[in-house]
Amino acid sequence: MTLFIDVDHVARLFATVGIRRAIREMADYIEADYSRWAQFDKSPRTANHSAKGVIELMPTDDGQRYSFKYVNGHPDNGQSNLLTVMAFGVLADVHSGYPTLLSELTLTTAVRTAATSALVAKSLARPDARIMAIIGNGAQSEFQALAFHEMLSIKELRIFDIDRDASLKLKRNLAAFPDLEVILAGSAQEAVKGADIVTTVTADKAYATILTPEMIEPGMHINAVGGDCPGKTELHAEILRNARVIVEFEPQTRIEGDIQQLEADFPVVEFFRIVQGEIKGRENDAQVTVFDSVGFALEDFSSLRYVLDLAQEHAIGEHIHLVPRPANIKDLYQILDQQPAIVPSRLRTVS
Ligand SMILES: NC(=O)c1ccc[n+]([C@@H]2O[C@H](COP(=O)([O-])OP(=O)(O)OC[C@H]3O[C@@H](n4cnc5c(N)ncnc54)[C@H](O)[C@@H]3O)[C@@H](O)[C@H]2O)c1
Repeated sequence: MTLFIDVDHVARLFATVGIRRAIREMADYIEADYSRWAQFDKSPRTANHSAKGVIELMPTDDGQRYSFKYVNGHPDNGQSNLLTVMAFGVLADVHSGYPTLLSELTLTTAVRTAATSALVAKSLARPDARIMAIIGNGAQSEFQALAFHEMLSIKELRIFDIDRDASLKLKRNLAAFPDLEVILAGSAQEAVKGADIVTTVTADKAYATILTPEMIEPGMHINAVGGDCPGKTELHAEILRNARVIVEFEPQTRIEGDIQQLEADFPVVEFFRIVQGEIKGRENDAQVTVFDSVGFALEDFSSLRYVLDLAQEHAIGEHIHLVPRPANIKDLYQILDQQPAIVPSRLRTVS
């Protein structure tokens, strides 16, 4: 049987353990998987582009377990009251190919993305960082705010979005965390001024320049989350040229990240080298660092592992019959005979 975890199950699990603990534990799972990088079968995700957005498949395996995520990115979906990003995924047994878990991954992606951002920032942001700006206050933003509050002791947030209602929503949702001060800024420039960390998490299918070089101060860490697709960026190219740039999986980020604007040999550091202690994160207090986040399949593998462990610990979810179990495995056809035919409802009414 396959364990099925829907949105309500995941929401209940995160509410039960508490969202801050869930982010921290998720980060531990992600870090553990980055620390065994060589065991994973890695490839850039497969992307199907259309005029309005993209649908992507993100597979990986560690020789024991296989996972994939189906995820979209449709910046105009809000106009139809649909999410910009939604996802679901599967964890399977490599040896039999059978699926162990089928799970929602929309809420889970928000948690995993924020957990990854904070995990990376732990080795890149200055240790005394206490102020973060968040540009883009949509679906991902609360999770980003709480991850940095929990894992980096961020105490002050300056928030900006071109949609003021989105910023008001973010401030309202964070009111439950009184030791995190939230200040509404009048512009991206105002939000960024004096911030130690700047998170950009906007959605626009364009070469946007949310941050320009004159906004950047020495020692800043930039957590660039929203530029994650060809033709979709957030940072002015000069910011990247003057920074230490950290990426997840270089071949994928060259295609999708903000560095798509730069020449193919622009030097970047893959995060696993920092996790494994091969390379330092931040090299000095004045350095500007950028995490050019696009989201990598390994993080979804970790997410699915975490959701499965949480679900088993709390005995939540539904065991579903996703794969046939014929008595004779060479006789799949017999399953048709075992099922009563569906009686059309119109006929049922007549009889
Ligand atoms: N790197 C990753 O792993 C990862 C994971 C999830 C989502 N994302 C990306 O993050 C982005 C945000 O996702 P979301 O689910 O929060 O989307 P969302 O649509 O809910 O929110 C995006 C917000 O950005 C705002 N915005 C757009 N242009 C802006 C600008 N110029 N200045 C300020 N604000 C602006 C919008 O008004 C909106 O409130 C998307 O682009 C998505 O693809 C990346």
